[in-house]
Amino acid sequence: MPEPILEALNLTRHFKIGGSLFAKPKVLRAVEDVSLSVRQGETLAIVGESGCGKSTLARMLMRLIEPTSGQMTFEGRQIDRAKGRALTELRRDMQFIFQDPFSSLNPRMTVGRLVGEPLETHAPEMSAKDRRAKVSELLAQVGLRPEHADRYPHEFSGGQRQRIGIARALASGPKLIIGDEPVSALDVSVQAQVINLLADLRDALGLTLVVIAHDLAVIRHMSDRVAVMYLGSVVEEGPTDEIFASPRHPYTRALLSAIPVAEHGRARHQIALTGEMPSPLDPPSGCRFHTRCPFAREACRADVPALRVTDTAPGHRAACHFFEEIAAEAPLPRATEGSGRTAAAQARFAMYADALAGGTLRPRETA
Ligand SMILES: Nc1ncnc2c1ncn2[C@@H]1O[C@H](COP(=O)(O)OP(=O)(O)OP(=O)(O)O)[C@@H](O)[C@H]1O
Ligand code: SF4
Ligand SMILES: [Mg+2]
Repeated sequence: MPEPILEALNLTRHFKIGGSLFAKPKVLRAVEDVSLSVRQGETLAIVGESGCGKSTLARMLMRLIEPTSGQMTFEGRQIDRAKGRALTELRRDMQFIFQDPFSSLNPRMTVGRLVGEPLETHAPEMSAKDRRAKVSELLAQVGLRPEHADRYPHEFSGGQRQRIGIARALASGPKLIIGDEPVSALDVSVQAQVINLLADLRDALGLTLVVIAHDLAVIRHMSDRVAVMYLGSVVEEGPTDEIFASPRHPYTRALLSAIPVAEHGRARHQIALTGEMPSPLDPPSGCRFHTRCPFAREACRADVPALRVTDTAPGHRAACHFFEEIAAEAPLPRATEGSGRTAAAQARFAMYADALAGGTLRPRETA
């Protein structure tokens, strides 16, 4: 099994909100005690509802914001306090792809300058001629043409702009790329192309990917492992196939039960998630999911469940006191016709199925 390239241990980030002469600031617990490890060459997907802390976690992993506490290592080196040259090297080795390829690209810079800029920082010895050649090579790698270097971001489509963002991320020769919803702003047909591009680049360049995605279809198609977040914490993680086939945490079961039958090959009801996600300013005691969990009982309000290894596969862990009982007593029920499929989820999966059938999207290779 490949070595971990990036590891986080008990990573926590709190934000202080408000506060004045007369009132203490409140503490917003955006990420709480997250430990995870990303292995060389794999794609880890991070999924969860809006506001659960995905972007905050990704920004900490990139050292774009500081953790309140916890530790991180990259290739075995401690990076949570890295400064100076160590931080510059980290910026070269780990790159970020943003959700919105328009606002993340400076509109006044040509594509050539945008893609060439990281080379000025990370390869200052490179001559202007070599830099131009390298920019052409990077543009070709992401499916753009050398003459695109003279144009400006507004002259490109959304998918092309995301390709420019990817070329810029590749310029420093990174080992790991973190994408925060890298395709969610794009049309579904274009999403498939950009997903394929990222998968091809990962394989060709030996990259490791961490991808944040709302969309379970995207995750299913591109990740090797999934971490499911709820209200700042990882509640379940494991190999993608295991998570989709045998989710153990009631929250994951609820998320996945919205997937239409045809895609998954197994009929199931939608387990409705009732209520809003509670505020991270005042998270519930014990298991943070207890206010919405259909299986909650007294112990859930008192004790925080640890991430424990499940019965299904090595590396599959869930943070629920009772997942064994729940899996035995409440297997994912069979669906009756028409139950529990949101129109949006159904439409999205149909489009992915079409893309797969038409050969524009390749299925993820399973080991
Ligand atoms: N700089 C900040 N100051 C204060 N609160 C913040 C800050 N950044 C994030 N938060 C809060 O932290 C929580 C987690 O936010 P985050 O952006 O990480 O969520 P997310 O899972 O990425 O959501 P989305 O799917 O909507 O992008 C939210 O409650 C958010 O309001
Ligand atoms: S610990 Fe309790 S509340 Fe939390 S997910 Fe498990 S059953 Fe539900
Ligand atoms: Mg986010």
